[in-house]
Amino acid sequence: MTDKHAPITHRNDIGTTRGTDEGDTVTSYRVLSTIDKIDSELLASFGELPPDGYTRGASAFRYRAFGAAIVKGDTIKWTENRPFFQSEDINTYAGGLERRFPPLPEAARRFAAALAVDPQIRDVVGGEELEIGVHQMRVTASDEHNGYPAPEGFHQDGFEHVAVTCIAQRNVNGGVSMIAPLDDPEQIVLDRRMQPGETVLLDDLRVRHYVTPFTPKLPGTAYRDVVVVTFTVTTA
Ligand SMILES: [Fe+2]
Repeated sequence: MTDKHAPITHRNDIGTTRGTDEGDTVTSYRVLSTIDKIDSELLASFGELPPDGYTRGASAFRYRAFGAAIVKGDTIKWTENRPFFQSEDINTYAGGLERRFPPLPEAARRFAAALAVDPQIRDVVGGEELEIGVHQMRVTASDEHNGYPAPEGFHQDGFEHVAVTCIAQRNVNGGVSMIAPLDDPEQIVLDRRMQPGETVLLDDLRVRHYVTPFTPKLPGTAYRDVVVVTFTVTTA
């Protein structure tokens, strides 16, 4: 039931936005290949995710798990499953309340740990000690309902950096990832559908991101599987 992974042609998109000083450019996102970290157990684990009890109405077709860890150098320590909180300012759709999600399956922990120690990511994120939050999500669509990967619209997640990895997608029409700088929301700097094994590493303080709704390409069902890892440096 899982997609065959087409090899990723090497494209290292790197987005830049203007900083506050004239001529100063900062990297606002980059696209990395993380396909070597995806295994069949991770792919299969999406089929076991329980429904997200915090969605409603047209976007109720979401399945997810959550975990958090402390990263020190190359060691990862998973913390007790704690509630996840975003303010209403950040998430008008589901913010302002503590959400408790089912724990991450082992395969998703392994994937997130591999991302968290990947030098491509750590060079950007920085810090010796970090807190990470890991969201494993499947969004589905059918002939009766659309899939809404980002029901809140263009948004920030409320962290320093965020790594969004497309793990798999099946029969998806739409589901286009977009990034726009905070200070110039109409300038879309990334506008394309992520392929399995691609990770977009965002500077969440400088850009907003969004994923368009999707429908099944052929009649039937469609799904889009992602892992989102949020990074907060606690010791520089
Ligand atoms: Fe997000």
